[in-house]
Amino acid sequence: MLLLVTCALAITSGTTFAGAIPLSKPAKFDWSSTKALIAFGDSYTYVQGTLGRQNYSFIGDQFNLAYDAETLLSNQIVQNQTATAEGGPNWVEYLTNCGVDQGLTSPQHCKKQLWDFAFAGADISTEYLPLHHNFTVSLVDQINQFKQYGHPALQQSLPGFNQEKTLIALWIGINDINDSAKYAVDFRTFYKRLTDTLFESVETLYSLGYRSYLFMNLPPLDRTPGNQAKSNPSPNATQVGWYNAALADHAAAFAERHREARVMLFDAHARLADMLDEPWKYGIVNTTDFCAGYDQPDIAVEYEKYGCPTSLERYFWFNSGHMTSHVHEVLAGEVERWLQK
Ligand SMILES: *[C@@H]1O[C@H](CO)[C@@H](O)[C@H](O)[C@H]1NC(C)=O
Ligand SMILES: *[C@@H]1O[C@H](CO)[C@@H](O)[C@H](O)[C@H]1NC(C)=O
Ligand SMILES: *[C@@H]1O[C@H](CO)[C@@H](O)[C@H](O)[C@H]1NC(C)=O
Ligand SMILES: *[C@@H]1O[C@H](CO)[C@@H](O)[C@H](O)[C@H]1NC(C)=O
Ligand SMILES: *[C@@H]1O[C@H](CO)[C@@H](O)[C@H](O)[C@H]1NC(C)=O
Ligand SMILES: *[C@@H]1O[C@H](CO)[C@@H](O)[C@H](O)[C@H]1NC(C)=O
Repeated sequence: MLLLVTCALAITSGTTFAGAIPLSKPAKFDWSSTKALIAFGDSYTYVQGTLGRQNYSFIGDQFNLAYDAETLLSNQIVQNQTATAEGGPNWVEYLTNCGVDQGLTSPQHCKKQLWDFAFAGADISTEYLPLHHNFTVSLVDQINQFKQYGHPALQQSLPGFNQEKTLIALWIGINDINDSAKYAVDFRTFYKRLTDTLFESVETLYSLGYRSYLFMNLPPLDRTPGNQAKSNPSPNATQVGWYNAALADHAAAFAERHREARVMLFDAHARLADMLDEPWKYGIVNTTDFCAGYDQPDIAVEYEKYGCPTSLERYFWFNSGHMTSHVHEVLAGEVERWLQK
């Protein structure tokens, strides 16, 4: 009984869902000795690689899944205005401090290495949602690809690589909930199925020897600029809450099945909602809109030319569906403080 409680205590962090207890991360996870972060997900998490598909990936795409160790280890993270979906470094780059600097970074040369297999536009599985493009790599396929190519390459050829010193980060579901928001389904059942499939893939990672997991829950997607302008946001707050509850349940069940795993669910929803509620605490002045010229080459200095009263880092939203690099930086700082506790 006590074990069960302790275990459940380890997996969530102050989620607001009915029945959930405010929880903290497992004491036995040590961020300071973590040498690598392996990431999966969508545009919120993807980084540009020199061997990736421009605007979508670090390496390859659905038509080019195979690579060898030499190829992976020679690949570099690109940082420039078009190398992420937020016009600057994203949360995994800030969290690891790998790939934040302009230009090229070899993950191997970072103190905390970032190996990022997230693919922009990914949903969890084609079983539930169509691909955004025929070259999109779904979450399930990112992990299949990792099992076949990425994991063997890192294990056999990366000096000092060790699953025990590696943290797996997963942030997914953003496209799933957005793409399916108007489906005629029982959403609680649908989100449960989506997260069932997600955790089948997580079991694959577990079977490869990975023991530390960081899950991020969904942002308040009912508060995107487009949704704020609607009387009936889509997805709405209820749907986001249902998805996050399904994720929390699955993370708890996963932790219970694998007592030696360090399973962490970061409440990104609560942190981002706080930034939207009290933006001044974070240097943000605009939470309702995005700057129309967000992707213009001169936006860093010439924002007024595009009708924007302030520079991008004072906005919460970068565009219709993405948060600014500044928001990613704040979020990464909060994740890091929490991992260090
Ligand atoms: C990548 O995105 C940038 C900025 O959004 C765009 O200008 C460029 O055409 C895109 N490149 C490709 C290959 O899609
Ligand atoms: C960013 O880097 C990519 C890949 O190296 C390149 O194709 C793109 O033109 C660069 N974009 C900018 C704005 O420098
Ligand atoms: C992928 O889609 C593009 C554009 O819709 C199309 O031109 C291309 O032939 C497709 N590729 C394959 C291999 O199906
Ligand atoms: C949100 O959408 C779901 C699914 O359409 C619906 O069941 C629910 O009542 C909505 N919630 C609110 C607060 O409108
Ligand atoms: C928020 O940004 C929009 C779009 O750039 C702009 O029209 C609006 O005036 C801004 N609002 C505030 C309070 O700065
Ligand atoms: C959700 O879909 C809408 C409409 O296609 C799009 O404008 C928006 O960027 C998407 N949001 C996210 C978070 O991807």
